[in-house]
Amino acid sequence: MATSPENQMKKHVVVGITGASGSLYALTFLRWLVDNGYAVDAIASETGKQVFEYETGVNFSVRGITDKEGLLTIHDNNNLFSPLSSGSHTFDSAVLIPCSMGTMGRVASASGSKLIERIADVALKERRRLVIVPRETPLNKLHLQNMLALSSAGAVILPAMPGFYQRPGTIEDIVKSIVSKVLDAIHIPNDLSMRWGE
Ligand SMILES: Cc1cc2nc3c(=O)[nH]c(=O)nc-3n(C[C@H](O)[C@H](O)[C@H](O)COP(=O)(O)O)c2cc1C
Repeated sequence: MATSPENQMKKHVVVGITGASGSLYALTFLRWLVDNGYAVDAIASETGKQVFEYETGVNFSVRGITDKEGLLTIHDNNNLFSPLSSGSHTFDSAVLIPCSMGTMGRVASASGSKLIERIADVALKERRRLVIVPRETPLNKLHLQNMLALSSAGAVILPAMPGFYQRPGTIEDIVKSIVSKVLDAIHIPNDLSMRWGE
């Protein structure tokens, strides 16, 4: 069978949104996935929700994020009884975007005390794709150690560090260039951003 995107089984993506700056990355990522027919489960930490609404002006709800029905489900970060907190759930990849230093530290210590942290832990133990999009500057030694620990455990550390060789004209272009990198990291075909040499 041909392997065009239309013929591939759509991947099931879990998105954790935490209290780092950069909610526009999360909003753009969620909307792209839903607009392209992917099933998405999204969870925001308490501060993640507040920063998301402050930075984007969008209500963190299915209706706020999309007018498409049925593909986006929002879960409560306190609900550790969620099916997503079990390794028996068959999501393909988990993406923490943006990822605060707080959540990163808790994931690095396998705390599992909130749903986002537990899902990241499940992704690592089940050898599924875990992409972490940290946002902080400058970084201290603990941040760097946590990134190294997570990378060693199998996570992809994909900092919100846009390149400028594409000569972005708008904030949207900059955001899309990072979202495109995240999609690449979870093996979802996309043409969100110009590729060098094309
Ligand atoms: C407006 C705003 C911007 C923030 N930006 C960052 C950031 O870029 N990176 C970061 O690690 N924390 C940032 N923080 C701090 C986190 O939100 C805070 O450490 C919080 O406890 C993280 O909790 P969470 O990991 O459960 O979302 C920011 C907080 C606010 C209110």
